[in-house]
Amino acid sequence: MKKLLFAAVAALLAFSCGQKTSEYGYTIKDNRIVYNTPPRPADQQSMLGFACDPIENVRVGFVGLGMRGPGAVERFCYLEDATITALCDLFPDRVEAAQQILDEHGIPRAAEYSGEEGYKELCARDDIDLVYLAVPWQLHTPIAVYAMEHGKHVAIEVPAATSIEECWALVNTSERTRRHCMMLENCCYDFFELTCLNMIQEGLFGEVVHVEGSYCHNLEPYWDRYQGDWRMKYNRVHHGDVYPTHGIGPVCQDLNIHRGDKMDLLVSMDTGAFKGQETADSRYGEGAYQYANGDNTSTLIRTRKGKTILVEHNTVTPQPYSRMYQVAGTKGYADKYPSEGLALGGADLKDVDIEDLDAEQFMSPEERDAIMAAYQHPITREGGLAEKAREVGGHGGMDFIMDYRLIYCLHNGLPLDQDVYDAAEWSSLVELTEVSIRHGSMPVVMPDFTRGEWNRLDGLHFAMVK
Ligand SMILES: NC(=O)c1ccc[n+]([C@@H]2O[C@H](COP(=O)([O-])OP(=O)(O)OC[C@H]3O[C@@H](n4cnc5c(N)ncnc54)[C@H](O)[C@@H]3O)[C@@H](O)[C@H]2O)c1
Repeated sequence: MKKLLFAAVAALLAFSCGQKTSEYGYTIKDNRIVYNTPPRPADQQSMLGFACDPIENVRVGFVGLGMRGPGAVERFCYLEDATITALCDLFPDRVEAAQQILDEHGIPRAAEYSGEEGYKELCARDDIDLVYLAVPWQLHTPIAVYAMEHGKHVAIEVPAATSIEECWALVNTSERTRRHCMMLENCCYDFFELTCLNMIQEGLFGEVVHVEGSYCHNLEPYWDRYQGDWRMKYNRVHHGDVYPTHGIGPVCQDLNIHRGDKMDLLVSMDTGAFKGQETADSRYGEGAYQYANGDNTSTLIRTRKGKTILVEHNTVTPQPYSRMYQVAGTKGYADKYPSEGLALGGADLKDVDIEDLDAEQFMSPEERDAIMAAYQHPITREGGLAEKAREVGGHGGMDFIMDYRLIYCLHNGLPLDQDVYDAAEWSSLVELTEVSIRHGSMPVVMPDFTRGEWNRLDGLHFAMVK
């Protein structure tokens, strides 16, 4: 009884200090929000470098066939080592529309499931190896966990999780069930980012010291198209970078995050919701909702090895699309938006006039294209993948490269390019940025999803058949 009373008082005290009580929550120490990293339960093993037995033909079940899902179904029609076994959406007519994609490709129709819990029947099948999810954010982790519990590997659209608890649920379930859990961060496979990654690994940038990434995309034309208004509803009540992975994914790969370095300390700050409020007023009526998500959210992260990352999120103000992608190293510099630029430190900058601010220049487009061709990433050379990806498409080809690599690695029994720790680390920004902002931009000590093993792997390597 005494014990119970003590626990209740402790929980009340923690709550009144604004601290989370869960074992995966945080405490505030020395003006920092410090997230717990609980020990790994005895029945789990690390998934670092994990590979499963080769799967001759990967049988796939798709869940979520709204704006994003059907494009994936279409791309899988081009993948020789995969079979589309089942299709599932809330609405039967969306399943039927996806079946027609198979018809157009002369591929046998797949099993169909619909309704809120149709995915459970899909997961119960024993002829599915991989569940591919393109559902609203809040359903990613619950369905992925369910699928892994039923013996399936999972590929999850971005972000894979919306809270730290969900990040840990993915890590724990993947570690316990020994199933792959990959987030479908397609921007890691865009040509410029892949080539820069290769150049970084070949030493052309020297030591990379600072990187930037963002999701700046005016979603004005699309708000009405999300099923049940899920995206606007989410943004209405959440501060923070609610969609961080396109920005943070490629640059974490550049910095070898959890393969030699670790994101350590995060600070986030947002603007007021000027345009966001205007949009909400025009959609729901003046003052119907107080819109939470700041028009622009900026987040700074420092790594254990002393590198910095800047991430931005803005989906409401009018501006050209940008993922910002920028790399600054001791020997070179690259940025992608608004135009692709490379400056690889070859210039002799002695005796420069103090008034000359243009002494350091980008390479000419011809030099840039030549060096980019020379350093094209090896994974895109394999079997003419780059050309095939451009032909099949999906955001210019990057979506196809991602799907191809996922199936290639499963087919050949290789570790996947993105593991469950990437999914958790990149998605963790959703909660961590919000918590920082809600505490007046207080620094956050980030959790360690590898539980102390962030330095065990030596750099990022995309596995290839020898
Ligand atoms: N990587 C990218 O470039 C990219 C681009 C667009 C969207 N996305 C992601 O894809 C996901 C889906 O986004 P969208 O734009 O297609 O949204 P959407 O609203 O158009 O589609 C979601 C679909 O999920 C279905 N659904 C809802 N509940 C379901 C359930 N219980 N079972 C089965 N299906 C269910 C809906 O009916 C809808 O068809 C999101 O996570 C989004 O962030 C990623």
